[in-house]
Amino acid sequence: MLQLENITFTVPASDSGTEPPSGQTIINDVSFAFEQGRFYAITGPNGSGKTTIAKLIMGINELTSGKITFNGRDISRLPINERSNAGIVYGFQHPARFKGTTFRDLLSISLGSDDEDKLVRIISRVGVCSLDFLDKPVDSKLSGGEIKKIELATVIARNPKVAIYDEPDTGIDLWTIGPMVDLLKREQKENNTTTIVVSHNKSFLEAADTLLLIKKGKIAYTGDLAGAMPMLEDLSVCTFDELCQGEDDAQCYR
Ligand SMILES: Nc1ncnc2c1ncn2[C@@H]1O[C@H](COP(=O)(O)OP(=O)(O)O)[C@@H](O)[C@H]1O
Ligand SMILES: [Mg+2]
Repeated sequence: MLQLENITFTVPASDSGTEPPSGQTIINDVSFAFEQGRFYAITGPNGSGKTTIAKLIMGINELTSGKITFNGRDISRLPINERSNAGIVYGFQHPARFKGTTFRDLLSISLGSDDEDKLVRIISRVGVCSLDFLDKPVDSKLSGGEIKKIELATVIARNPKVAIYDEPDTGIDLWTIGPMVDLLKREQKENNTTTIVVSHNKSFLEAADTLLLIKKGKIAYTGDLAGAMPMLEDLSVCTFDELCQGEDDAQCYR
């Protein structure tokens, strides 16, 4: 179980000059227990603090106060790599692109092995059926969909106990969302992975066992999607999501 106990994040003085100014509380006294092997969606308006919660769990941002425990162990002060070694893995909203590095290189690092059979098993799990894809450079020439597949593959390759995906639908076609949800559900079920997806997308909200609605740095609602609907409509969640601007915006709630 991953437990957030009264966690608060206030912009540190060293980050002053950024918006909002230092001293502003971004996450305000949030408590929640993520149970092992369940699927959670975190949603809420832009700027409400979703990514900050994910970064606090991963140790990218340091807690101002409160505590995070993982299976009873206090991980609040552990650096990112130790949280990662404990099985908590974070997929970035905008994955890094590295000139001169191939997908094979990245995946081998995540997997801890360059064994061809193992690499192929991972890429087939994310729906890549071409071996040539392994030798693609991870640079700016990749499409949004390709970079997301690479990101998902590097998370899955680590065999995470807790997988956190921040807006995994950013930059991908609407038609690829269904297979992506299926993939994350399969990983959740087969590997008992606690799956936390930050998203506005209806498909992810429906796939979740539990939904957390974040508003102004606090949890405004936890429960199922049906119960959240009036609040989602109220907050106009998704209005800013570029995926909702096409003709297919049945995919998203407004
Ligand atoms: N380290 C930081 N320094 C200054 N402001 C920050 C920092 N981290 C987050 N913020 C601000 O906190 C708010 C919430 O950010 P974020 O968690 O990224 O929102 P969301 O993911 O819900 O869109 C935003 O206004 C953002 O600019
Ligand atoms: Mg965000």
